[in-house]
Amino acid sequence: MLEADGLKVSKTFRDSADLVVYEGGCRELLEQIPPGTLQLIVTSPPYNIGKPYEKRMRLEQYLEQQREIISRCVKALDPRGSICWQVGNYVDQNAIVPLDIALYPIFQSFGLKLRNRIIWHFEHGLHCSKRFSGRHEVILWLTKSDRYTFNLDDVRVPQKYPTKKHFKGPKAGQYSCNPLGKNPGDVWIIPNVKHNHVEKTAHPCQFPVELVERLVLALTKPGDWVFDPFLGSGTTAIAALMHGRKAAGAEMVPEYVKIIHQRVQLAQHGRLRIRPMGRPIYDASKPSKSRVKPVQIGAARPTLFELDSLLLAGHAS
Ligand SMILES: C[S@@+](CC[C@H](N)C(=O)[O-])C[C@H]1O[C@@H](n2cnc3c(N)ncnc32)[C@H](O)[C@@H]1O
Repeated sequence: MLEADGLKVSKTFRDSADLVVYEGGCRELLEQIPPGTLQLIVTSPPYNIGKPYEKRMRLEQYLEQQREIISRCVKALDPRGSICWQVGNYVDQNAIVPLDIALYPIFQSFGLKLRNRIIWHFEHGLHCSKRFSGRHEVILWLTKSDRYTFNLDDVRVPQKYPTKKHFKGPKAGQYSCNPLGKNPGDVWIIPNVKHNHVEKTAHPCQFPVELVERLVLALTKPGDWVFDPFLGSGTTAIAALMHGRKAAGAEMVPEYVKIIHQRVQLAQHGRLRIRPMGRPIYDASKPSKSRVKPVQIGAARPTLFELDSLLLAGHAS
């Protein structure tokens, strides 16, 4: 195990590590993890659409492969833990197959309970000419039991009308909405990582850190294990470490493993640039005053409320 700047990094699973990055297939790494260890599994698996890191196969074969990995994930999941499987569409002779629909029966067959089907909406992507352009993907959030971690207060977002008050009845004059903010709902509008995104690396399909941060904050406690069987550029690990969780995962492509370590190192030295949580979506009709400040592992991120007042004051970061 390597210790760099206070972070214990291991190439194989060790409970005493802070970060495990296994260079190889996730099945081998999952075999090393004792049953019931992981509090959150969050991932974006290959979609079987012929990206450089995958071999396209028949849908049935792909689903069988996913079933095997999911079954190992379920075994390694804490009884109070959650699985978040983020997927888009598989395309077969120009017809789309939404992978969340194809995968749901597999999760159900392992007794997992679906808590939300979260729609992740973004504005950029391929322009279709024979159907409407795809501008959303899905996160299936499932739990192993009815007793699961859900820290709603940690992910509330500012109310639309925070000063609204009850105007009659016994509560007249009191604020009518939760002062801690509102539930973020199940439609999340977060820009996807395209070429001009601050988080873009050489990896062809990263998901944004903010997407994973909300899941980490809502579904785990500090010190918990967050696992990603398909680490890619390591976005899940970054989101977990930034919030004091432990991170583990596998990646088969050595070039991407290098990117993971580079991103973690940058974050350790306060030099990793990440789009801030809750930052308003870019509006081309308004001038943008904002610049993205780097983040640091271990340093607290501003809460959405602090961020809101910074933005209102015109000091957006
Ligand atoms: C959709 S990408 C994940 C991207 C990641 N969410 C990010 O933000 O960078 C899927 C990744 O899984 C890797 N991969 C494919 N099969 C794998 C396997 N059996 N075990 C581990 N990694 C695998 C691919 O090389 C690819 O980098």
